[in-house]
Formats: sequence, C-alpha cells, structure tokens
Amino acid sequence: MIGFLMILGTIFLILFHSIWNSTYWSRQGIKGPIGIPIFGNMFKYLIGKRQYGLVYEDIYKSYPKASYIGMYRVMNEPAILLRDTEMIKEVMVKNFPNFTDNVLYVSDKREDLIFCNPFVAKGDKWRVMRSELVPMFTPNKVKLSFPHIATTCKKLDLFITNFIGDMPFEAKDLCAKYTLDVVASAAYGLDGQSFTSRTSDFTKLVKELFMPNSLSLVQTTALLFLPKLGDLINYRYIPTKVQQWLFTIIGKVISQRRKANDSSNGDFLQWLIDAKEKAGESVDEFTIVGHCSTLLIEGFETSAALMSFALYEFAVNPHIQKKVHEEIDEVMSKYEGKLCYEAVLEMTYLEAALYETLRLHPPMLALLKHCTKPFELPAQFPGVKLREKVLIEEGTVFVVPVQAVHHDPVVFPEPHKFNPDRFSEENKRQRANCAFLGFGEGPRMCPGMRFGLAQSKAGLVTMLMKYRVQTSAKCANPLEISPTTFLTTSRNGVWLCFKPRNL
Ligand code: HEM
Repeated sequence: MIGFLMILGTIFLILFHSIWNSTYWSRQGIKGPIGIPIFGNMFKYLIGKRQYGLVYEDIYKSYPKASYIGMYRVMNEPAILLRDTEMIKEVMVKNFPNFTDNVLYVSDKREDLIFCNPFVAKGDKWRVMRSELVPMFTPNKVKLSFPHIATTCKKLDLFITNFIGDMPFEAKDLCAKYTLDVVASAAYGLDGQSFTSRTSDFTKLVKELFMPNSLSLVQTTALLFLPKLGDLINYRYIPTKVQQWLFTIIGKVISQRRKANDSSNGDFLQWLIDAKEKAGESVDEFTIVGHCSTLLIEGFETSAALMSFALYEFAVNPHIQKKVHEEIDEVMSKYEGKLCYEAVLEMTYLEAALYETLRLHPPMLALLKHCTKPFELPAQFPGVKLREKVLIEEGTVFVVPVQAVHHDPVVFPEPHKFNPDRFSEENKRQRANCAFLGFGEGPRMCPGMRFGLAQSKAGLVTMLMKYRVQTSAKCANPLEISPTTFLTTSRNGVWLCFKPRNL
C-alpha cells in the first residue's frame, strides 16, 4: 500500500511540476503556445510523426510578428525559440559569451573521447579543442589535402562505371562511401575500402552511426532533451566499439610512423602531431585520437547528405543541372580535364548550388544553444514593451530554427524554389546576417566548411563530368525527412539514376 501511494505521489509531483512549468512564460508576459504535460509542444516529435526541427518550424510559423517565442520542450521545459534574424545574431554572435555551449546531453561518466569534439565540448575545453582543430582547415591545408580527395574521386568514378551504370542507386549511400574514403585518407592516410569491401571497419562501424534505426527516436531524445533517459539507456554518442577501434587504428598509425621516423605524410594526423611538436608540447595520444574521431564523425555525414540532396535537386531541376554541366565543362577544359583544387575553387555556380541545397536541406534543422550567463530579453514584438524586465536564467535552451528561417518567404522569397542565384556574391551581400545558417554562425561556426565544400564539389564534378542525373521510379518527390534522426536524413533514401551525357 505504501509503495502504491509513493508511486501515486511521484506521478502527482511530476504532473504538478509539468503543469506549473507550462505557465512559466505566461507568468513572465511572454507569448507562445501552451505546453501539454510531459509532451510540452513536442507531441508530434515524441510519437515519431515529425522531426524535431519541423515541430520548431510549426511553432515559428504560428507567431509571424514575434522576434522570439516562449515555448516548451519535452517535460514542459521552458525554452526560447528565436524568429528574427537580428535576434539570432544577438544570440550566436553579439552576445556569444552568454550562449557559449551547445545543447547536447552526453555524459562524461560513459565516454570521454567525444569531449575532444568542439561540437560537444563546453567552456574552456571547447576553446582549446577548437583552437587545435581550426589550423587544420586553412585554405593552404585544404589545398594540401586535395590529392586525397582527387585519388578518391578516381575510385568513385570506377565504382560508378563498374557497379552502377544506369541502374537506380541510393545517392546518400554512394556519397557516404565516397566521403568516408576521403576522410579516412585525408585524416589518417588510410584506405577506407568503402568501394571495395562491404565489411571494411569504416563501412561497418562508422557509416551506421547516423542511419535511422529502431532506437533513433529514443537516442535523439536522450541527446537533445532528456539526459536522464540517456542514463537509463546507457547512451553513448560514439559507441564503445567505435571508440576502441579508433584507438587501435590510430594508435597503430602513430606507432608505425614513429618506428619509421616518418613525418612526411600530408594528412591531418601528421599535421596535428607536427603542431604539437612545434609548440614544444608532448604528443598526447588521447587528444590526437579525439581530434581524429572529430574529423571522421563531422567530416563524412554532413558532406554525404549535402551531395545527395544536391544530386536530387539537380535531378528535379534539369535547367539548373544544365548550367552546372556548362560550368564544369568550361572550367575542366581550362585545366585539361585534371581535377585540382584550383579548378574546384573556380566553380562558383556549383558552390552557389551547394549553398542553395543547404538552405533547402540543412543538415541540422535546428541549432540549440544553452544560456550560460543570465540574459535580458528585449521586446517580443516590435514597438511593444515587455510588461516587466525578463532575465533569462542560466541553463535555459535557445532554439535557432534553421530550416524555419531558410524556408520563410519573408527572408527567402519563393522559399521552396531551388535557385542558386540567391547565393551570387551580390545577393549574399544584400541579405541580412544570420539568414543563412547552413554552417552555423559566430564563434562556433563550422570550422570544416572549406574542406566539406571541397570534397563535396570534387565528388559531384566527378559524377557530373560524365553523367546526367535523374530521379528513379522509387524516389519520393518531394523528399520526406526521417522523423527520428538527429541529422537530416531522407526517410526512404534518395533514389536516382545516371544517364551518360553523350547519349
Ligand atoms: C558540407 C559539410 C558540412 C556542413 C553542412 C557542416 C555544418 C555544420 C554546422 C551547422 C555546425 C554547427 C555550427 C554552429 O553551432 O553554429 C557545424 C559544426 C562543426 N563542424 Fe561542420 N559541417 C560540414 C563539414 C564539416 C567537416 C568536413 C568538418 C571537419 C572535418 C566539420 C567539423 C565541425 C566541427 C568540429 C563543428 C563544431 C564547431 C564548434 O562547436 O566550435 N564540419 N558544422
């Protein structure tokens, strides 16, 4: 009986807390949707019907005049959803010291390697990890890593000729094979064997990391909303198997190079070691493995998604594909058919098409920032003063609804039209800051952007030099987004066909 009363009491307390929380914003005079106990405003996400970023987009659209909205995440956790690009700039750029950390619930009791990743690291650790990684992505370093990209492009070309031909193929799968091999080679000087072996460790262990599976919804919820759920399911951002494998392979590469006294390798691993030695610091193998895992995890999935969505957009917009073909032909004939960094840099229309792809299909539909120092909210509606001063407490989540801003007709007219001209130099200059967030903004903006664009462009040039791309009968149009994954993934894949251009 006592046990039963205790359970009843706990349920009552949780419900009471959740209902009390649901009045948090109205008590402060901030407008927004009412939260339902337990679900907050995330009901459709929690029942697996709508990706979390799309739920944020629905809320964004409901208050078109507001600069921000008071909303409730899972368990009625009060959060601020930003609307106005000026307000986004306040949070991501101008008041960055008040919002230094990303919202990602990863436990240092269960894993440690992931805290070398600047995307996950917080405070001073973030500063150190980011400052060690950024020098790996200067224009010169990306140029030096281009031979790894070019070699992998040759493998991609052979694979298409020998194994795909004009058969339907799943574009994300093909592009992930390519980006995994590029990253394995550029980061550690290893052959990922993605094109040649279905059972290579890279293919088996890493490619699966971001694929939708039966646990995706629970894992995404643990990662973004409920740290206690993470404890319950023993959630790890990098599964233990992958961590152990990383230590083994990178450890092996380091010791082989030490034995051979060979530091001539032009890859990120070597540059990281060189940078440590030059600074007179000891080479701490743990941090090196940590950085290498960041390169692997951040380096392949986002670029593979970008490439596959770009191929899809080219397939459904043949007039744009034609312009891309014309640019590729012109630049490649100037470089006598040799794929080099300079040629890829010159393809400005292709680059604009990639930015436009990221606008329509951002890899992260929303970015989440923790308030790390109290922050005073400005007026919620232009010209209407707040009832009283509202000071946001440390720990409150600020939602940057990337896709909602990208698809807002006020920010990008005719938002669902694929139009790379939006990213011409002149149009970019005229647009408000923080309107395009495909690589984030401010001090936490993506450090791998240059490398990501270079590998994506080179892979696409390799495919489009020889082929036109079309949708296959299996391809959904428009594409549906998987409702359960952390990163944007097409629910049923991106099914396309190649047709030789000379036919
Ligand atoms: C085209 C491909 C890519 C896209 C679209 C992309 C997108 C993003 C986005 C949206 C963020 C969050 C930024 C923010 O919070 O403001 C981010 C962060 C990050 N990206 Fe990328 N990324 C790409 C490629 C890469 C590559 C190739 C690497 C490295 C190999 C990389 C490494 C990182 C890291 C380390 C962070 C965390 C930065 C921090 O919090 O300080 N990314 N990326």
